[in-house]
Formats: sequence, structure tokens, C-alpha cells
Amino acid sequence: MYNPASEATRAGNFHDREHVQVITDIQPCREAVTALRREGLSVGLVPTMGALHEGHLSLIRAAKARCDRVALTIFVNPAQFGAGEDLGAYPRPLEADLTACRSAGVDLVFTPSTEAMYPHGAATSVHVDGLTDVLCGPFRPGHFDGVATVVSKLFHILPADAAFFGEKDYQQLIVIKRMVADLKIPIEIVGCPTVRAADGMAISTRNAYLSADDRKQAARLSHALFAAVEQIARGEHEVASIVATIREQLAGAASLQIEYVDVVDEATLEILTTIDRPARICAAVRIASCRLIDNVGVDVSSGRG
Ligand code: PAJ
Repeated sequence: MYNPASEATRAGNFHDREHVQVITDIQPCREAVTALRREGLSVGLVPTMGALHEGHLSLIRAAKARCDRVALTIFVNPAQFGAGEDLGAYPRPLEADLTACRSAGVDLVFTPSTEAMYPHGAATSVHVDGLTDVLCGPFRPGHFDGVATVVSKLFHILPADAAFFGEKDYQQLIVIKRMVADLKIPIEIVGCPTVRAADGMAISTRNAYLSADDRKQAARLSHALFAAVEQIARGEHEVASIVATIREQLAGAASLQIEYVDVVDEATLEILTTIDRPARICAAVRIASCRLIDNVGVDVSSGRG
């Protein structure tokens, strides 16, 4: 198995592998990104936890379209996993990920160790107030603190021009936008559309945990959201009725347990009772041992939804 840590040590923590630099240490990574920018090249950053799929690849493509160079990070961040979540089981196919990065034209991959990111004695974390009290927040205590903390560390280690995040994790995208605005971090946050499988399901690493049967049931989540968009397009703007219809459709699958179905203001995540502005319908369900989230945008003023 390719071990970037040992190669990186031999090459002074820097390794050029068919044009992908694989860097494991913090200082050389910061220097590599800074050097690119000093050359006048713009750098796009794609933070991930690895196990790359089409969703991640779409972020790489968006970054390549806007920036001269693309840096991707692979780090399974323990701070964002709760007790009883899948930290140990989370897939870590590093070799396949590096191959995918190479064919997607990524220029630099940062794969730090947990010890490098969270050295013994680290006492600082980032908390984004308010936005983390709704939707997934109450179901995953501490999760968004873990995300905000690691993403702010990554932004300091890789001082890119822009960073690309998926709308698939809509609340995460909004939390990061607010963090960057509040902490004056000079990185533009670019949201990218959710990539879906043929059955409509948002592609996710965790979908691989589902049996074929559970997968069929899980596809109801996206179908219910798409049906809600149509219901809104037909003129229904009352959230209670829209949410009731979604819940009814999800209740058709006994194996699905609903965590929440909410309609929120697309910028503030304020829970809406009437769709009178650009909004996001967000839902989370549990099926077997798997937790799935999905969301769709609606904008009654522009005819979307
Ligand atoms: P991860 O789940 O690996 O996702 C990395 C990025 O890919 C996130 O911005 C996520 O929203 C995006 N993504 C995942 N599935 C997608 C899909 N189907 N379509 C479009 N984009 C998709 O999200 C994380 O990692 C972590 O929380 C991280 C931000 C890296 C911090 O640890």
C-alpha cells in the first residue's frame, strides 16, 4: 500500500506523483499554496474526508473551472463525529482517492495525520451560533463545532482564493459561509449543486452502508422532496401542508425513521411557516444504521419551485 507519510518524509514532506503533490505536513503545505499564489496563480480548495465519489469530483471540476490550481484535502475529522457515529467504520481508500485525484487533475492533496491536526493540548474550537441550533444541529451535538474548527484550520494551512462545498450538506455550507464572514477569512466560499444517482438519491459515502432493499426505501427521501417542489410550483406555499405531504410519503416505508423535515430561509436557516422567499426544504432520516440527509431549493418569486 502506498504510504504518503513515508514517501513524504523521504522527499522532505513533499512528493510529486504524476503531477499530484501529496503533502502530509502542515508547513510544507502552507508553503506550497503560498508559492502558487505568489506566482500569480489562483488556488481552489476542495476539503473532503476522502472516499471520493461523483459529488466530490463535481467540486473538483467547479474548482478547476474557476481557479488555476486545485488543492484537495483528505482528512477524516474525528471532532465532527459523535459518540456512536461511524468514525471507525468510515472508509479510507487512500490509494483509490489519489488515483481519482490524479485523473481529475488535482494539483495538490493534503492528507494530514490526526496528531498533526489535533496536537495534544489543543484547546481551541470554533462555534457558529444560531445556525447550528436548527436542522441537524440538535441531532448531532458538537458536529458543526467539529466541522467549523477543522475547516478553519484547513483555511489557515491552505490559504486558497476560493473553497468549494456541496449543497448536499446545505447547513454545513451556510455555517462555513458565516464563519468565514465573521472571522474575516479571505477565502470565497462557493456552493455547488448536489450530484444525484439515477434513482434520485444524493450521492453520499454513507449510501454504501445500505442494503439493496434499504436503498430502494431510502430513495423515497429525494422523491418526497421533488414532489414537494412540484406541490409548491402548483401554488401551495403553506409549510405545514408541504411538510405533512413529505412526512406521509416517508411514512410509507416502515424502515425509514424521520429525524426532521423543515423548510428554512435559504440564507439564515430560519424555520419558515410560509414560503414567501428563497427557501430550502431539508430533511434527515434514519434507515438501518444509516443517517441520510437531503435538501432542495425553492424560490417562488423566480418560478423555481
Ligand atoms: P465529505 O462528506 O467528504 O464531503 C466533502 C464535500 O463534498 C462537502 O462539501 C460535501 O457537501 C460535498 N459533497 C458530498 N456529496 C455530494 C454530492 N452528492 N453532491 C455535491 N457535493 C457533495 O463534508 C465533509 O466531507 C466534511 O464535513 C468536511 C467539510 C471535509 C470537513 O471535515
